Amino acid sequence: MQEIRLKEEERAFSEGKTSKGNQWKWKQGDYWYKADYMGYESLSEVLVSGLLKYTNVDQYVHYDLCRILQEQTVIGCRSHNFLEEGENLITLDRLFRMYLGCSIVDRLDKIEGTRNRVEYVAENVAEITGLENFGKYLTMLLEVDAFFLNEDRHMNNIAVIFHGESRKFRLCPVFDNGLALLADTTVDFPVTKEAADVEKYIQKIQAKPFARDFEEQADAAEQIYGRQWKIDFTMKNVEVLLRECMEGYGEVIVERVRYIMRYQMRKYGKLV
Ligand SMILES: Nc1ncnc2c1ncn2[C@@H]1O[C@H](COP(=O)(O)OP(=O)(O)OP(=O)(O)O)[C@@H](O)[C@H]1O
Ligand SMILES: [Mg+2]
Repeated sequence: MQEIRLKEEERAFSEGKTSKGNQWKWKQGDYWYKADYMGYESLSEVLVSGLLKYTNVDQYVHYDLCRILQEQTVIGCRSHNFLEEGENLITLDRLFRMYLGCSIVDRLDKIEGTRNRVEYVAENVAEITGLENFGKYLTMLLEVDAFFLNEDRHMNNIAVIFHGESRKFRLCPVFDNGLALLADTTVDFPVTKEAADVEKYIQKIQAKPFARDFEEQADAAEQIYGRQWKIDFTMKNVEVLLRECMEGYGEVIVERVRYIMRYQMRKYGKLV
């Protein structure tokens, strides 16, 4: 596993923060680094991005595990900077403030019905940016989140990319799946040896940003834009990625994630 020494005072700061605090992160050279904070976020990043390779998502951020050396060594992950020269990441939170002068979260609070909320966001983003396929992109994102149980798809984790000179927007590669697969072992999903606990957690975990229920928000988007995501991976692909995570996380965590993946694969009729 790659080791990197990073200084606390050189940390970067997020625009918005997740409901579960903020992971420490650094930009160094052409890479972004994030340290685990709530649990096994980096394992989730590695597994989700490693599996997206076997799906029809063509733009996603690839994450590798690394060891971040500080006073205390922590596990983290790194990703290659996905912005080209002259580009900026604009999160949906910022996009709505800039172009519509409102808080997207406050707006959504006032809209009844999950389908209406999805449509409101997708149509406005498409209109502002000219990205006609944004609705399909958003649907795919909600489908991916439902499968991997990503509880952190807030409005700073959905973004578009803006090129200042040409004033053109492009879709953003899928990023930040750290709080997928019950990665928060500190507050909501402590590690136990009981498989039944994992099933209880899966019942309890809540989605964002349109509904608390993962299927409800993915279904609502699919009703408007059609089904998008196609999975073509098996537990064999999962095992290869989990093997890479063994050294950093150990058998108990790896076994738990294997269990969650089998559970989700079965639910989606993908267990062969
Ligand atoms: N590979 C990358 N290329 C370009 N920018 C990146 C990359 N990784 C992270 N960033 C920048 O850092 C911000 C935060 O990244 P990310 O969402 O992965 O971290 P996070 O700490 O999990 O975020 P949060 O806690 O706010 O959800 C992004 O919005 C983006 O501006
Ligand atoms: Mg984020």
